[in-house]
Amino acid sequence: MIKEHLQGSCISIDAKSWSYQIEIRHGKYLVHRYFGKKLSGISELHQKRSFKKNYGTIHPDRTFNEFSFETELFELTSPGKGDYRIPLFNGRSSKGSSVFSFTYDSHEIMEGILDVHGLPGVYAEEGDSASTLKITCRDEDSGLYVHLYYGVLPEFDTLLRWCCFENRGTDPVSIERAMSFLLDTPEDNFDVLTLQGAYARERTAQRHRLTGGISSFSSLRGISSHHMQPFLGMLSPETGENSGSALGVLLVYSGNFLFEVEKTAYGTVRITSGIHNQGFSWLLEPGESFFTPQAVLVQSYEGLGGMTRSFHRLIRTRLCRTDHRDAQRPVLINNWEATYFDFTRNDLLELADEAHNVGIELFVLDDGWFTNRSDDTTGLGDWQEDRKKLSGGLQELSQDLLKRKLKMGLWVEPEMVSPGTQLMQEHPDWVLGYPEKELTMGRTQLVLDLAHPDVQQHLIDTFTRVFSSADISYVKWDMNRCIGEWRSAYLPPERQGEASHRYVLGLYRVMKELTERFPHILFEGCAGGGGRYDAGILAFMPQYWTSDNTDGVSRLFIQHGTSMVYPLSTMGSHVSEVPNHQVGRSTSLDFRLGVSMAGNFGCELDLRKLTKPEKQVLSKQISWYKRWRPVIQFGDMYRLKSPADGEDSSLMIVSPDKHKAVLFWYRRLHDASLLPPVIHLSGLDPSIRYLEERTGASALGDELMHRGFPVEEPEGDFSVRIYQFVQDENSASRKL
Ligand code: GLA
Repeated sequence: MIKEHLQGSCISIDAKSWSYQIEIRHGKYLVHRYFGKKLSGISELHQKRSFKKNYGTIHPDRTFNEFSFETELFELTSPGKGDYRIPLFNGRSSKGSSVFSFTYDSHEIMEGILDVHGLPGVYAEEGDSASTLKITCRDEDSGLYVHLYYGVLPEFDTLLRWCCFENRGTDPVSIERAMSFLLDTPEDNFDVLTLQGAYARERTAQRHRLTGGISSFSSLRGISSHHMQPFLGMLSPETGENSGSALGVLLVYSGNFLFEVEKTAYGTVRITSGIHNQGFSWLLEPGESFFTPQAVLVQSYEGLGGMTRSFHRLIRTRLCRTDHRDAQRPVLINNWEATYFDFTRNDLLELADEAHNVGIELFVLDDGWFTNRSDDTTGLGDWQEDRKKLSGGLQELSQDLLKRKLKMGLWVEPEMVSPGTQLMQEHPDWVLGYPEKELTMGRTQLVLDLAHPDVQQHLIDTFTRVFSSADISYVKWDMNRCIGEWRSAYLPPERQGEASHRYVLGLYRVMKELTERFPHILFEGCAGGGGRYDAGILAFMPQYWTSDNTDGVSRLFIQHGTSMVYPLSTMGSHVSEVPNHQVGRSTSLDFRLGVSMAGNFGCELDLRKLTKPEKQVLSKQISWYKRWRPVIQFGDMYRLKSPADGEDSSLMIVSPDKHKAVLFWYRRLHDASLLPPVIHLSGLDPSIRYLEERTGASALGDELMHRGFPVEEPEGDFSVRIYQFVQDENSASRKL
């Protein structure tokens, strides 16, 4: 709920468990008043944030000399006016000035959540008590207006922040930094949580103390990247999984991004995030507007677990958009690790027969189905089916799969072009970079200039043709390299700083158009594994390939980190063969299945090579998964033990009505003289009696949570135990 107070000089925003307050000081300045546990009202009590004497600060407003731009908590900064902390905005007017003095102009409170023009974002549904506050400030000299947006979804404890810069002046303004929001806090005692990694080691949770100065977390790879998530957690030092304050900030963006946190000498902290300013600029002509991406702020007072569950519910139901949003995700087989580029139609059908026998529902034909694609050096861009490999083509294959009760999925990598292809010969100016110099390769391929409207249209037309060429039910949209050379032949020299953001806008346009044209297709994002697993892509594609690393041990860490923000329904999680193709490790089939079933399950192996007993195990586990996937994919997740805290780790998922729950428990390396493990469950209804179906054990929820549940002793390395709890209607005689 958003309300005005004290004759309109204060505005409060309230969610389920927090309040946010803004003050319009002296009718001019946007002061941040409060963000914390929910308050029941607003008072006239003023908290003075300036010194009696300090020669280190400047006071640009002589009328209010006690008002310090250096130490006040703000919602918006004015570059050049004495606030030396990290700014929301930097720019240059046509006269060459970098000084902008933004003062309050007006504000408006609106129902619902407004669109962020051209960019994806969280939305509200009918019945949500969502509202948006828009505060407008202006710089008199340049005519540049800033609109600050605050969208609140009270039921999700979520605040959405973004900005729009509008040029109402007569001359152009160059924007050199435009962050999505700025948040000042009056405390500085924080731990910072980030999700860092590398290719095949994405999103490992890292927690450290916030130290003085500026800390920054970013990607300049053109994609949100394997290396750093566009996410930041600000935690109280005592915050744990189940208690304490956790503020999560997630940027809905898929390109170069920056998070900065500044801990000042005055015991305050400033947090900001948005498009990375390095290499970025945007020329704003009179009459034009520029929108920043949306930042999602989730504040929990129930620890990291509370933050996670709010993000999961929000992403699943208010960010993902397609018809598949609420649908159970099919169990799939992907032929990549089974065949790589080397397959025939016959191989695929043999795999399909095996897939059908074990209960798989969708067959995904990965890379290599199009002409000139016998390895990863050629072929991208021409997108014609390879009739030598696929006699009968894609349509006949899709029919053959349907006969085996399998839907067909297809891999594509639209944003790329290989050297030597027809597309490259016809449009050498459609690639990013400097064709007159040597173009920088990544996986022997080049990146199409999606900033160029003709390239966008070409991709829309080409993939409309491809997706209509057969009965395709699923598409894996891949992107297998980072971007470096931000030079677009389409843009004039003074607009080259816009290339990276225009690429992302172009990508979103193409994804929006294609996902809307093919609503029956389930899209899954991919970028060399999880290199662009972000909220921007999830707004169009409700699931993502988590990592190329399918090793069970590595996946425990990757899925643990990913789960901080992203729901299990989005997390592609496949069982693969051993020794694992990425790390060379061998683990039991049970362990690999146990890890991959705690996500959006699939197979990434040559089923023909499995022994008969292995096929029986797989088939049994798939029918188990199908029964429990509504809980796994749409329930509330609780991390019980982190893989970083020793050899054992555990998580559980509870159905929204708390009548059902699934528990996953893993041990990596076993040892001697270890007592049988007892694990404290979470999220259950304390007064419901639960029956664990496999062991027949029965106990009340409170006992399972506080006294704990005894896990059967593991026999050796790489053990897994999976337990399924249902409400026990008739349990008088059973005991734990
Ligand atoms: C990327 C993906 C893999 C596979 C290959 C195909 O690496 O992450 O799953 O699709 O591309 O080239």
